[in-house]
Amino acid sequence: MSRQAAKIGSGRPIRFVDAFAGPGVVELGNTLHPGSPIRSLQSVAQHSALRAPINMHFIEQDADRWQRLTQEIKAATPSEGWPKHMVVHPPMQGECTQILRDTLGSYDTQNNPFGPALIFLDQFGYGSVPMDLVKQILSHPQCEVFTFIEAGHLNRFLEDPAKDAGRTAAFGGEEWKDAVNEPAGRRSIRLRQIYRENMKKYGGADLVWDFMMLNDSGTPVCWLFFGTNSDRGLEVMKTAMRRISGNFAYADGDSLDQITLFEGFDEECLARDLVDHFAGEVVTVGAVRRYVLEHTPMVKHANTMKTMRKDGKLKDIGDPKIAYSKAEQWDRKVSFEPKSMF
Ligand SMILES: C[S@@+](CC[C@H](N)C(=O)[O-])C[C@H]1O[C@@H](n2cnc3c(N)ncnc32)[C@H](O)[C@@H]1O
Repeated sequence: MSRQAAKIGSGRPIRFVDAFAGPGVVELGNTLHPGSPIRSLQSVAQHSALRAPINMHFIEQDADRWQRLTQEIKAATPSEGWPKHMVVHPPMQGECTQILRDTLGSYDTQNNPFGPALIFLDQFGYGSVPMDLVKQILSHPQCEVFTFIEAGHLNRFLEDPAKDAGRTAAFGGEEWKDAVNEPAGRRSIRLRQIYRENMKKYGGADLVWDFMMLNDSGTPVCWLFFGTNSDRGLEVMKTAMRRISGNFAYADGDSLDQITLFEGFDEECLARDLVDHFAGEVVTVGAVRRYVLEHTPMVKHANTMKTMRKDGKLKDIGDPKIAYSKAEQWDRKVSFEPKSMF
């Protein structure tokens, strides 16, 4: 998160909103660990590259948890206070959907930009974040969403009609019903695909990337979806996720067999993937960049493309010596060799 903020560098204040903040501690086994508010505060405090002030906001609905959170933040505050670039707002007690809607609405009314902002939505289950909230957030320039879904929970109650309305609100539409017809082992992967598509279709995200957290035995526990309208924003988020890759995995197929740990996917894998996907096509470098960002665990495309040029797997269209401006570089075209039959 702090890396994300450091790259923005617009000079405008940045916001991080932990909207389902919890009590500031998480119990794992019999031990208490710092919860997301404390971890984010400490991470931002340690990050010296931040160029703009960063506002840290926390929302918790439950009164006891909110009180504990207030105490935990107080206890975590360094004796000399937080570094100057941080503005740590007192945690708010209340229902975050309503608070976010009202806040964003008032920024709209005053024609003020709310962003740059990253809104972290770490709900229990799947039913507390309606897709129209995602849309409202992403309609603000430089606002990004990081949302969390417990796939197991969603799956278990998929045929409970009492939860239909909640699911439809979470997905933004009734497409989730398609997953009911899938065999049990494929349901959660199908739900993930639908959610991802719907974040674009109804949530207004230009780019969506998701990954799953695995437990120690390698079973997927939950999905995290990142929605943004900026290629650069996704680049930075993926770079950060790759750094802490331990129990994170990435999947972009329809099958659980295609789950990939970040470490397992290198430039050679990317070159094969690009050949498979773009074989015989002429596309812009911008399209390759987007594909790499959105559909593979990799972040950068340039080195792989360089090797592929050398290996004759792709060619530049036009004169490669022509100097392109930074903006034009994405419009350059390349052609991929056709798929080999052998
Ligand atoms: C999964 S926990 C968050 C854990 C926290 N992010 C962490 O890592 O330490 C979800 C929290 O959101 C709170 N919550 C649930 N619904 C909420 C809502 N609509 N608005 C605000 N907080 C809510 C719950 O009380 C709970 O403490």
